[in-house]
Amino acid sequence: MAAQVPREIANAIVDPKAYADGGRIDAALRWLRRHAPLARAEPDHYRPFWVVTRHDDILEVERRSDVFRAGDTFTTLTSIADSAHIMTVTDGSPRLLRQLLQMDGTEHAVHRRLTQGWFMPQKLSRLEARIRVLARHHVDRMAGSGGHCDFVQDVALHYPLALILELLGVPAEDAPLLQRLSGEVLGSSDPDLSRNRTPNGAEGAAIAGHQAAVAELMSYFAQLSAARQKMPGDDLTSLLTRATIDGDPLGELELLSYCIAFVCAGFTTSCTLAGALWALLDHPDQMTKLQDGNVPLDSMIEESLRWVTPVKHLMRSAAADTEVAGVKIAEGDWLLLSFPSGNRDDRVFDEPFRFNIARTPNRQQAFGAGPHLCLGRHLGHLQMRLFWEELLGRLAAIEWDGVPRNMEANYVCGPKSVPVRFKVH
Ligand code: HEM
Repeated sequence: MAAQVPREIANAIVDPKAYADGGRIDAALRWLRRHAPLARAEPDHYRPFWVVTRHDDILEVERRSDVFRAGDTFTTLTSIADSAHIMTVTDGSPRLLRQLLQMDGTEHAVHRRLTQGWFMPQKLSRLEARIRVLARHHVDRMAGSGGHCDFVQDVALHYPLALILELLGVPAEDAPLLQRLSGEVLGSSDPDLSRNRTPNGAEGAAIAGHQAAVAELMSYFAQLSAARQKMPGDDLTSLLTRATIDGDPLGELELLSYCIAFVCAGFTTSCTLAGALWALLDHPDQMTKLQDGNVPLDSMIEESLRWVTPVKHLMRSAAADTEVAGVKIAEGDWLLLSFPSGNRDDRVFDEPFRFNIARTPNRQQAFGAGPHLCLGRHLGHLQMRLFWEELLGRLAAIEWDGVPRNMEANYVCGPKSVPVRFKVH
């Protein structure tokens, strides 16, 4: 008989609060890796799914994308009630948007190819000077805050998004609006970020807030795309507006979804930067090593990706009866890939609960794998490297100035407050 995830652990996996209290989710996933690495969960209010917790099994499911499909049902954890709500809005489709993350096979490859060139190292090297200006500007902003700030709210949320908005051709004055909307999309289960701020969530409030924020982003990019139709620029929105697939223009839903995916993607880099600073403040020996220049920045960034793992899960569904790690999976079954779990797997990482900026090798899987491997991984990495170069070049001292807090979310999340006191040159 297939292993069953204990009810308490199944409920923790879907509970946004368990991710805010990192210890609770870590303990749940550690137990699963050891006792039931690929087991069936039946949490309250969700349809059952398999939880894949080991690094190698996650890689296998990601790579066998012909069997484990992304686009046939919900790509992220969605309760039975929220699924029903979405399907009434979309006429039966399990998604509000149609992003790359929700496509399979040739359709996915063709859509991905439209923008892939923009995110490859060669193109990015031409953006490096501009990214450095933005990194310096955000370090200046931190320096100008009188020696203390909330690193998340004052710096990390703004910096990665600034460049992405430039790439999309969004005017700088709209940055606050898009930042708020992306926070409402990804933070719909967090009482401080949700559009419908109801502390313990009136029934349906979170999904309604999520949906309203998505609708507002769609209408924003529909207007921008219409403007670019008339007067194209050298930006991603213009590229997608003029793009064709087999001679037909890109569908409107696909176009708007693409733009929204980029806006929301900036959040993952923000989470990783803020989570890295949190970890460095909690591990002063690692901060000293970094400041002394004893460890390459790239290695610290890989470890912060492993440590933070801002994308907490993605779902797949089985297109046929099959088997993974000796466990039989039936056609139609739903599977959860737990990236934070893979990144703490002691079969792959020595002392996985130690933040070790010199870790080599580091096979972190924060960017996923297989055909959906993060398109923006080189950009995210470059943005982080340039930011750390600029910050470390000026930082004389830094320490906690309050209690840090994490977001309450089970999909993409990280710190929502990292209060610090510091001195810069
Ligand atoms: C620290 C930063 C980032 C992390 C941790 C991250 C993580 C991820 C993960 C886990 C996936 C899913 C991979 C899978 O299904 O196997 C993904 C996909 C994606 N990411 Fe990122 N991401 C980051 C930054 C970015 C940035 C900066 C962009 C672009 C501006 C971006 C754009 C995308 C896109 C378009 C996809 C969908 C790819 C596909 O389905 O083919 N990401 N990312």
